[in-house]
Amino acid sequence: MLNIENLKCGFGKHEILHGINLTIPKGQITAIVGQSGCGKTTFLKTLNRMVEEEGGYLSGTITLEGTDIKSLPKEKLRRRIGMVFQQPIAFPHSIEKNLSYVLKYHGVRNKKEIAEKITESLQKAKLYDEVKDQLKKSALKLSGGQKQRLAIARSLCAGPEILLLDEPCSALDMKNTIAIEETLLELKDQYTFVIVTHNLAQAKRIADQVIFMDQGKVLEVTEKEQFFANPASEPAKEQIQYM
Ligand SMILES: Nc1ncnc2c1ncn2[C@@H]1O[C@H](COP(=O)(O)OP(=O)(O)OP(=O)(O)O)[C@@H](O)[C@H]1O
Ligand SMILES: [Mg+2]
Repeated sequence: MLNIENLKCGFGKHEILHGINLTIPKGQITAIVGQSGCGKTTFLKTLNRMVEEEGGYLSGTITLEGTDIKSLPKEKLRRRIGMVFQQPIAFPHSIEKNLSYVLKYHGVRNKKEIAEKITESLQKAKLYDEVKDQLKKSALKLSGGQKQRLAIARSLCAGPEILLLDEPCSALDMKNTIAIEETLLELKDQYTFVIVTHNLAQAKRIADQVIFMDQGKVLEVTEKEQFFANPASEPAKEQIQYM
Protein backbone atom coordinates (compact mmCIF):
# COMPACT_ATOMS: atom_id res chain seq x y z
CA MET A 1 0.00 0.00 0.00
CA LEU A 2 1.18 3.48 -0.91
CA ASN A 3 0.17 6.27 1.40
CA ILE A 4 0.52 9.92 0.45
CA GLU A 5 0.19 12.79 2.90
CA ASN A 6 0.22 16.49 2.15
CA LEU A 7 2.31 16.01 -0.98
CA LYS A 8 3.39 19.25 -2.57
CA CYS A 9 5.62 19.51 -5.57
CA GLY A 10 6.85 22.16 -7.95
CA PHE A 11 9.59 23.61 -10.07
CA GLY A 12 11.24 26.84 -8.92
CA LYS A 13 8.56 29.15 -7.54
CA HIS A 14 5.82 27.35 -9.44
CA GLU A 15 3.91 24.91 -7.23
CA ILE A 16 2.26 22.21 -9.33
CA LEU A 17 0.80 19.78 -6.79
CA HIS A 18 -0.93 21.57 -3.91
CA GLY A 19 -1.14 19.13 -1.02
CA ILE A 20 -2.30 15.67 -2.04
CA ASN A 21 -3.62 13.12 0.46
CA LEU A 22 -4.61 9.65 -0.68
CA THR A 23 -3.99 5.93 -0.46
CA ILE A 24 -3.28 3.58 -3.32
CA PRO A 25 -4.47 0.12 -2.30
CA LYS A 26 -2.52 -3.02 -3.04
CA GLY A 27 -3.61 -5.44 -5.74
CA GLN A 28 -5.87 -2.96 -7.50
CA ILE A 29 -5.85 -0.83 -10.60
CA THR A 30 -5.99 2.86 -9.77
CA ALA A 31 -6.69 5.17 -12.71
CA ILE A 32 -5.66 8.81 -12.58
CA VAL A 33 -7.77 11.04 -14.78
CA GLY A 34 -8.05 14.78 -15.29
CA GLN A 35 -7.46 17.44 -17.90
CA SER A 36 -4.17 17.98 -19.67
CA GLY A 37 -1.71 19.90 -17.49
CA CYS A 38 -3.46 19.10 -14.17
CA GLY A 39 -0.33 17.34 -12.85
CA LYS A 40 -0.90 13.62 -13.52
CA THR A 41 2.58 12.87 -14.88
CA THR A 42 4.20 15.04 -12.22
CA PHE A 43 2.31 13.11 -9.56
CA LEU A 44 3.57 9.76 -10.92
CA LYS A 45 7.10 11.15 -10.97
CA THR A 46 6.90 12.06 -7.29
CA LEU A 47 6.21 8.41 -6.47
CA ASN A 48 9.55 7.20 -7.84
CA ARG A 49 11.28 10.52 -7.06
CA MET A 50 12.05 11.27 -10.69
CA VAL A 51 10.74 14.77 -10.14
CA GLU A 52 13.79 15.66 -8.07
CA GLU A 53 16.12 14.50 -10.84
CA GLU A 54 14.30 16.86 -13.18
CA GLY A 55 15.02 19.80 -10.87
CA GLY A 56 11.75 19.81 -8.96
CA TYR A 57 11.15 19.83 -5.22
CA LEU A 58 8.70 17.86 -3.18
CA SER A 59 7.47 17.96 0.39
CA GLY A 60 5.08 15.83 2.41
CA THR A 61 5.27 12.12 3.08
CA ILE A 62 5.02 9.11 0.78
CA THR A 63 5.19 5.72 2.46
CA LEU A 64 5.44 2.36 0.73
CA GLU A 65 4.25 -0.43 3.05
CA GLY A 66 5.03 1.88 5.97
CA THR A 67 8.52 2.88 4.82
CA ASP A 68 9.17 6.52 3.91
CA ILE A 69 10.38 6.39 0.30
CA LYS A 70 12.99 9.05 1.09
CA SER A 71 14.80 6.48 3.22
CA LEU A 72 15.10 4.05 0.28
CA PRO A 73 18.07 4.25 -2.11
CA LYS A 74 16.83 5.20 -5.61
CA GLU A 75 17.68 1.80 -7.19
CA LYS A 76 15.71 -0.01 -4.50
CA LEU A 77 12.78 2.36 -4.77
CA ARG A 78 12.67 1.99 -8.57
CA ARG A 79 12.89 -1.74 -8.32
CA ARG A 80 9.83 -1.69 -6.09
CA ILE A 81 7.99 1.03 -8.05
CA GLY A 82 8.48 0.63 -11.82
CA MET A 83 7.36 3.09 -14.49
CA VAL A 84 6.22 2.67 -18.08
CA PHE A 85 6.10 5.83 -20.18
CA GLN A 86 3.74 7.03 -22.86
CA GLN A 87 6.30 6.60 -25.63
CA PRO A 88 7.62 3.06 -25.27
CA ILE A 89 11.35 2.81 -25.05
CA ALA A 90 12.99 -0.09 -26.88
CA PHE A 91 16.77 -0.17 -26.65
CA PRO A 92 18.66 -0.81 -29.92
CA HIS A 93 19.44 -4.41 -29.03
CA SER A 94 17.72 -7.76 -29.41
CA ILE A 95 14.37 -8.34 -27.71
CA GLU A 96 16.12 -10.80 -25.42
CA LYS A 97 18.81 -8.31 -24.41
CA ASN A 98 16.23 -5.62 -23.68
CA LEU A 99 15.03 -7.91 -20.88
CA SER A 100 18.22 -9.74 -19.80
CA TYR A 101 19.87 -6.36 -19.20
CA VAL A 102 17.37 -5.60 -16.44
CA LEU A 103 17.61 -9.10 -14.96
CA LYS A 104 21.43 -8.92 -14.83
CA TYR A 105 21.24 -5.45 -13.30
CA HIS A 106 19.14 -6.96 -10.53
CA GLY A 107 21.60 -9.77 -9.92
CA VAL A 108 20.13 -12.66 -11.95
CA ARG A 109 23.19 -14.39 -13.45
CA ASN A 110 22.13 -17.97 -14.15
CA LYS A 111 21.45 -18.42 -17.90
CA LYS A 112 18.58 -20.84 -17.42
CA GLU A 113 16.95 -18.55 -14.89
CA ILE A 114 17.38 -15.57 -17.23
CA ALA A 115 15.73 -17.49 -20.09
CA GLU A 116 12.86 -18.57 -17.84
CA LYS A 117 12.26 -15.06 -16.57
CA ILE A 118 12.34 -13.64 -20.10
CA THR A 119 9.66 -16.13 -21.16
CA GLU A 120 7.61 -15.43 -18.04
CA SER A 121 7.72 -11.65 -18.41
CA LEU A 122 6.84 -11.81 -22.13
CA GLN A 123 3.95 -14.14 -21.37
CA LYS A 124 2.68 -11.84 -18.65
CA ALA A 125 2.86 -8.88 -21.04
CA LYS A 126 1.02 -10.90 -23.73
CA LEU A 127 3.88 -10.59 -26.20
CA TYR A 128 5.44 -14.04 -26.02
CA ASP A 129 3.49 -15.76 -28.81
CA GLU A 130 4.30 -12.98 -31.25
CA VAL A 131 8.06 -12.83 -30.59
CA LYS A 132 9.09 -16.26 -29.30
CA ASP A 133 10.84 -17.13 -32.59
CA GLN A 134 12.60 -13.79 -32.92
CA LEU A 135 14.09 -13.11 -29.53
CA LYS A 136 17.49 -12.48 -31.13
CA LYS A 137 16.07 -9.89 -33.52
CA SER A 138 16.27 -6.16 -32.91
CA ALA A 139 13.60 -4.73 -30.63
CA LEU A 140 13.51 -1.67 -32.89
CA LYS A 141 11.64 -3.78 -35.47
CA LEU A 142 8.66 -4.21 -33.19
CA SER A 143 5.47 -2.22 -33.75
CA GLY A 144 4.46 0.54 -31.32
CA GLY A 145 2.05 -1.75 -29.51
CA GLN A 146 4.64 -4.51 -29.27
CA LYS A 147 7.25 -2.05 -27.97
CA GLN A 148 4.81 -0.92 -25.30
CA ARG A 149 4.25 -4.53 -24.22
CA LEU A 150 8.03 -5.06 -24.25
CA ALA A 151 8.37 -2.02 -21.97
CA ILE A 152 5.85 -3.62 -19.60
CA ALA A 153 7.74 -6.95 -19.74
CA ARG A 154 10.97 -5.09 -18.97
CA SER A 155 9.42 -3.39 -15.95
CA LEU A 156 8.11 -6.73 -14.72
CA CYS A 157 11.64 -8.21 -14.94
CA ALA A 158 12.67 -5.94 -12.06
CA GLY A 159 10.03 -7.65 -9.87
CA PRO A 160 8.11 -4.49 -8.89
CA GLU A 161 5.34 -4.27 -6.33
CA ILE A 162 3.83 -1.27 -8.05
CA LEU A 163 3.84 -0.36 -11.72
CA LEU A 164 3.13 3.23 -12.79
CA LEU A 165 1.88 3.58 -16.36
CA ASP A 166 1.67 7.02 -17.97
CA GLU A 167 -0.81 6.95 -20.86
CA PRO A 168 0.47 3.57 -22.05
CA CYS A 169 -2.24 3.18 -24.70
CA SER A 170 -2.53 6.70 -26.11
CA ALA A 171 -0.56 5.83 -29.26
CA LEU A 172 -2.04 2.37 -29.70
CA ASP A 173 -4.87 0.89 -31.75
CA MET A 174 -7.81 -0.93 -30.14
CA LYS A 175 -6.26 -4.40 -30.45
CA ASN A 176 -3.06 -3.41 -28.65
CA THR A 177 -5.00 -1.34 -26.13
CA ILE A 178 -7.13 -4.35 -25.28
CA ALA A 179 -4.02 -6.57 -24.97
CA ILE A 180 -2.59 -4.13 -22.41
CA GLU A 181 -5.88 -3.82 -20.53
CA GLU A 182 -6.15 -7.62 -20.35
CA THR A 183 -2.57 -7.80 -19.08
CA LEU A 184 -3.34 -5.39 -16.26
CA LEU A 185 -6.59 -7.13 -15.32
CA GLU A 186 -4.94 -10.55 -15.27
CA LEU A 187 -1.93 -9.40 -13.24
CA LYS A 188 -3.56 -7.12 -10.72
CA ASP A 189 -3.58 -9.75 -7.98
CA GLN A 190 0.22 -9.93 -8.23
CA TYR A 191 0.98 -6.23 -8.71
CA THR A 192 -0.50 -2.85 -7.97
CA PHE A 193 -1.10 -0.71 -11.03
CA VAL A 194 -1.44 3.06 -11.24
CA ILE A 195 -2.43 4.13 -14.73
CA VAL A 196 -2.74 7.68 -16.01
CA THR A 197 -5.26 7.82 -18.83
CA HIS A 198 -6.99 10.52 -20.85
CA ASN A 199 -9.51 7.93 -21.77
CA LEU A 200 -12.38 7.84 -19.27
CA ALA A 201 -13.85 4.79 -20.99
CA GLN A 202 -10.59 2.95 -20.31
CA ALA A 203 -10.77 3.90 -16.63
CA LYS A 204 -14.34 2.60 -16.60
CA ARG A 205 -13.26 -0.70 -18.17
CA ILE A 206 -10.32 -1.54 -15.95
CA ALA A 207 -10.01 0.61 -12.83
CA ASP A 208 -11.01 -0.33 -9.30
CA GLN A 209 -10.30 3.12 -7.91
CA VAL A 210 -10.38 6.46 -9.73
CA ILE A 211 -8.38 9.55 -8.77
CA PHE A 212 -9.69 12.70 -10.38
CA MET A 213 -7.23 15.59 -10.55
CA ASP A 214 -7.86 19.22 -11.40
CA GLN A 215 -5.27 22.03 -11.39
CA GLY A 216 -2.78 20.26 -9.15
CA LYS A 217 -5.37 19.06 -6.66
CA VAL A 218 -7.07 15.73 -6.15
CA LEU A 219 -10.81 16.36 -6.17
CA GLU A 220 -11.95 12.75 -5.89
CA VAL A 221 -10.56 9.40 -4.80
CA THR A 222 -13.42 6.97 -5.25
CA GLU A 223 -14.38 3.48 -6.25
CA LYS A 224 -14.93 3.34 -9.99
CA GLU A 225 -18.68 2.61 -9.76
CA GLN A 226 -19.25 5.57 -7.47
CA PHE A 227 -17.14 7.89 -9.64
CA PHE A 228 -18.98 7.15 -12.87
CA ALA A 229 -22.46 6.93 -11.34
CA ASN A 230 -22.23 9.98 -9.14
CA PRO A 231 -19.11 12.15 -9.38
CA ALA A 232 -18.84 14.58 -6.49
CA SER A 233 -17.12 17.51 -8.20
CA GLU A 234 -18.38 19.79 -10.96
CA PRO A 235 -15.25 19.38 -13.17
CA ALA A 236 -15.64 15.57 -13.07
CA LYS A 237 -19.38 15.80 -13.85
CA GLU A 238 -18.53 17.97 -16.82
CA GLN A 239 -15.95 15.53 -18.20
CA ILE A 240 -18.13 12.45 -17.68
CA GLN A 241 -20.96 14.12 -19.55
CA TYR A 242 -18.82 14.02 -22.72
CA MET A 243 -18.06 10.29 -22.51
N1 LIG B 1 10.17 19.80 -15.59
C1 LIG B 1 9.25 20.76 -15.45
N2 LIG B 1 9.59 22.04 -15.24
C2 LIG B 1 8.65 23.01 -15.10
N3 LIG B 1 7.32 22.79 -15.14
C3 LIG B 1 6.92 21.53 -15.35
C4 LIG B 1 7.84 20.45 -15.52
N4 LIG B 1 7.13 19.29 -15.70
C5 LIG B 1 5.84 19.67 -15.67
N5 LIG B 1 5.70 21.00 -15.47
C6 LIG B 1 4.43 21.74 -15.39
O1 LIG B 1 3.57 21.07 -14.50
C7 LIG B 1 2.21 21.15 -14.91
C8 LIG B 1 1.63 19.75 -14.92
O2 LIG B 1 2.26 18.98 -15.94
P1 LIG B 1 2.04 17.42 -16.09
O3 LIG B 1 2.93 16.98 -17.19
O4 LIG B 1 2.19 16.77 -14.79
O5 LIG B 1 0.51 17.38 -16.54
P2 LIG B 1 -0.38 16.17 -17.05
O6 LIG B 1 -1.63 16.16 -16.24
O7 LIG B 1 0.44 14.92 -17.08
O8 LIG B 1 -0.75 16.63 -18.54
P3 LIG B 1 -0.98 15.73 -19.87
O9 LIG B 1 -2.34 15.12 -19.71
O10 LIG B 1 -0.97 16.75 -20.97
O11 LIG B 1 0.13 14.75 -19.99
C9 LIG B 1 2.23 21.84 -16.27
O12 LIG B 1 1.88 23.18 -16.08
C10 LIG B 1 3.67 21.71 -16.71
O13 LIG B 1 4.03 22.78 -17.53
MG1 LIG C 1 1.13 13.69 -18.66
